[in-house]
Amino acid sequence: MAKITAGVATSHVPAIGAAMDLGKTQDAYWVPLFKGYEFSKQWMKANTPDVVFLVYNDHATAFSLDFIPTFAIGCAEEYQPADEGWGPRPVPVVQGHPELAAHIAQSVIQQDFDLTLINKMDVDHGLTVPLSLMFGQPQAWPCKVIPFAVNVVQYPPPSGNRCYQLGKAIRRAIDSFDANLNVQIWGTGGMSHQLQGPRAGLINKEFDNAFLDRIVNDPDALAKVPHLDYVREAGSEGIELVMWLIMRGALDAQVKQVHRFYHVPASNTAVGHLILENGR
Ligand code: DHB
Ligand code: FE
Repeated sequence: MAKITAGVATSHVPAIGAAMDLGKTQDAYWVPLFKGYEFSKQWMKANTPDVVFLVYNDHATAFSLDFIPTFAIGCAEEYQPADEGWGPRPVPVVQGHPELAAHIAQSVIQQDFDLTLINKMDVDHGLTVPLSLMFGQPQAWPCKVIPFAVNVVQYPPPSGNRCYQLGKAIRRAIDSFDANLNVQIWGTGGMSHQLQGPRAGLINKEFDNAFLDRIVNDPDALAKVPHLDYVREAGSEGIELVMWLIMRGALDAQVKQVHRFYHVPASNTAVGHLILENGR
């Protein structure tokens, strides 16, 4: 059977991808940020999964105001890196896992979570920057990826609790896939940041660190935090954090935290990162 072995959470700031692509990781500004991912890259070499179920948000790249799926699962064979205005990132094409994605879609939809199915899509920094942070700059990504897009860009976003319960449904779906696969689930985006308006530049270290504590040890209570609390406390883009609850819902009640990192700022954002292992 397929098995979720670990969860990874990380921010997805586009400037991190640009720093890697343009050879700036040794610049003084970036050194402390990339230091926080050195352990992660080593851990990932020892724990490379067959498939990453990658929860992320599209930033009006593949989707637009024309159509806005709340939850959408990628069922395609592959996904090209998107052109977000400066040409596509020079990173490998993302290989999908259509069979597992189709199984998860059917299982999760039959568990009463209505998903949108995606058969063709380019993937933006929300998906490629976490891959770069965890895998570095390989010729090809070392595993398959199922993109799972969540609308946290256009109001209204899904609630934290909806995301957490959806994570549990995804867990049941993956557990019931009849193939011997090592699957990781990643929750990406966040932490506190606001990119526009009078509060642009907002960072809230207390909120972020409490979130890091609670998502590991008290996810049931954390899931009940209403969406407006995220926006008020962590900024309008801080709502990206609800995606971490999908990851957490798909993990065991008790997990082993093997890595935690927090760094302010990267571009306009507080960067948070966790590696959580199942089955401990
Ligand atoms: C930034 C952060 C994001 O999450 C994003 O999607 C775009 C920009 C930033 O900090 O610049
Ligand atoms: Fe973002």
